[in-house]
Amino acid sequence: MPTLTNRRRSERQIGIIVVNIILRPTLHTDYPATESLMRDAFWDLYRPGCVEHLVARQLRSGTDVLLDLVAEQETQLRGCLLATRARLIQQDGRVAAMCSLGPIAVAPGHQRHGLGSRLISRALDLLATAGLPAAFLYGDPDYYGRFGFSDAATWAITTPDGANFDAFMGLELRPGGLDGLSGRLLDSADFEVQPDRLAACEQGFPARVKHRLPGQLFD
Ligand SMILES: CC(C)(COP(=O)(O)OP(=O)(O)OC[C@H]1O[C@@H](n2cnc3c(N)ncnc32)[C@H](O)[C@@H]1OP(=O)(O)O)[C@@H](O)C(=O)NCCC(=O)NCCS
Repeated sequence: MPTLTNRRRSERQIGIIVVNIILRPTLHTDYPATESLMRDAFWDLYRPGCVEHLVARQLRSGTDVLLDLVAEQETQLRGCLLATRARLIQQDGRVAAMCSLGPIAVAPGHQRHGLGSRLISRALDLLATAGLPAAFLYGDPDYYGRFGFSDAATWAITTPDGANFDAFMGLELRPGGLDGLSGRLLDSADFEVQPDRLAACEQGFPARVKHRLPGQLFD
């Protein structure tokens, strides 16, 4: 089973090279800059335009945020990460508290220098210290596998629709954190994006053209 110990080993293998980086809790005054950073990082990546800046706003307006971190380099925000409450609904109806990692973004131009790894490692340490049994996310297995994440099907844990696919992954934050647990993982309702809210949110940012590109996952 993948655990935090595996992740620490992976982290050493990654070899962190970023200097003068401060990781700290996000302040209310950082919200606009982090939304812009997320919009820049996610734009046209998974769909024409993106929704993650609105997701961050909705999460921060709700009650499900467990962790909100920024990476700062010489007073410039370079990255941000949120983690939220999730619920594992077991077959007998019992609910186990879990967490979901993301959105995670590093400013374009500063990616691939180890910043994302720093943010993820710190977040996993803090979530483990807070007593969360496991973290889940949707992401690239090649990237998140480095931190010990593996297919959620390992534990017979599915999406709310009962699905499994490579991108849906979990990580035990302590040995045996998911022992005896399986079921459907439900994320915060604040992840749901309505088109009218997205349109209103976009009004607050510089206009930007959306592109339909090969490899995008959504319309
Ligand atoms: C994903 C992201 C947060 C990673 O942060 P980062 O600082 O660029 O990543 P790190 O420097 O810690 O790690 C870099 C390594 O991860 C790999 N990597 C980075 N992003 C990746 C991705 N989306 N998928 C697969 N591999 C990725 C790179 O190949 C690189 O490995 P290499 O140097 O051996 O080629 C950042 O690239 C980003 O903001 N991307 C756009 C938004 C996004 O996709 N967020 C995650 C959604 S799940």
